Amino acid sequence: MIKVLFVCLGNICRSPMAEGIFNAKIKGLGLEKSIQSDSAGTSDYHIGELPDERTLRCAQKNGVGIQHRGRQVHLTDFRDFSYIIAMDSSNLRNLELLKLQSRFPNKEIYLMRNFAEGETGLAVPDPYYGGEEDFENVYRILDAALDGLISHLKVAHPQVFKA
Ligand code: 4NP
Repeated sequence: MIKVLFVCLGNICRSPMAEGIFNAKIKGLGLEKSIQSDSAGTSDYHIGELPDERTLRCAQKNGVGIQHRGRQVHLTDFRDFSYIIAMDSSNLRNLELLKLQSRFPNKEIYLMRNFAEGETGLAVPDPYYGGEEDFENVYRILDAALDGLISHLKVAHPQVFKA
């Protein structure tokens, strides 16, 4: 089982959207038994909450459903997830610090847009203080980066994709 954890700040906008889009793509490939994802926030601001209404609306408009309640990153996530993927460099820094407190200080943490060709180092921009068009922009960015992630997984885990 490959387990992917998407991480942002609040876990109500970017990372649950990444989780929803990724799970839809994986289901489309018929691989939902072998590849699963979850999302979490570095902050404790929105624990237990549904995703932001704008996140849900944007995903729904694009035919993607999201089943998630906000949660904070746990130290055990560094053990339980094969891939931990941060939405921006601030999330990445916080994860790197948290990782040192875990039993898995050597775990590699990834940046979401590094999976999209030519987008290395770029952030998935925080849409929280923006409008509908900012959520649509996040959707487009994630859609491309998640295709890149799936291409990466195909190379790294060919046996999982061999039907
Ligand atoms: P997210 O967006 O990190 O993509 O979920 C945010 C959600 C909430 C806050 C900031 C960013 N906040 O400050 O409450």
